[in-house]
Amino acid sequence: MVAAGLGEAAAMPLHLPPVIAHRGASAYAPENTLAAIREAHRRGCRWVEIDVKLTADAVPILMHDDRLGRTTTGRGAVRRRRLEEIRALDAGSWKGRQFTGEPVPTFTEALELLRSLKMAVNVEIKPCRGRELETAWQVCQALNECWPEADGNVLLSSFAIESLRAAQEVAPHLPRGLLAEALPRRWRELIEELACRTLHLSHRRVSERALASVIASGTPVLCYTVNDPARARQLHALGVTSLISDVPDLVAAALQ
Ligand code: G3P
Ligand code: MG
Repeated sequence: MVAAGLGEAAAMPLHLPPVIAHRGASAYAPENTLAAIREAHRRGCRWVEIDVKLTADAVPILMHDDRLGRTTTGRGAVRRRRLEEIRALDAGSWKGRQFTGEPVPTFTEALELLRSLKMAVNVEIKPCRGRELETAWQVCQALNECWPEADGNVLLSSFAIESLRAAQEVAPHLPRGLLAEALPRRWRELIEELACRTLHLSHRRVSERALASVIASGTPVLCYTVNDPARARQLHALGVTSLISDVPDLVAAALQ
């Protein structure tokens, strides 16, 4: 099954852009909300990165943190709250009064919006600890149901090796990216083992030398979170394929 998966994954095209909006256009709108996706679109960005984790009742939602406090009016652990409770929260007002009432979107809602806007997505599978497999399964199931024709416009990624492995098993056709901060010592083995198409690294934690060796291997590199135009130009010149940014419009302009 895995061997067949590798073949399918290799066949799927992947059209990566120079710039991807991080958590939506998160400098301008509350991260991981539909407003942030719309804002990315409005600013001319076609690709967004979003973080997905599960509610207590195993519904995939857009959320970065394990806890609700920073980005919603709720408190406590995301994994202990059911969708119904999370839906009653305000995920917008922390960013500005104009976003008051913006809800936490389900992953399905985000996919529907992305499709309607003809956008593309890097789905970061961001499981709460112990839910690595379940989170990957739910993400893949939602993609299969809501976006069955995904073709070059969906890229999965995760820091969680178990999630990547689970995605590889249940949705081998969906391209995967290995996500890390610094370049892992075993990056070649990991990429091969998980049949990852891309490597996503923190631009703050990776040296030019490390970047050069990955790029020379033919694996596309994506760097996050790049908000400084001069740094964006530098990484682009080094051969980094995509820059994941909170200010995707400014970074895109810097690369012109
Ligand atoms: O996917 C790139 C980046 O989003 C990873 O870090 O913490 O912003 O999800 P984080
Ligand atoms: Mg992320």
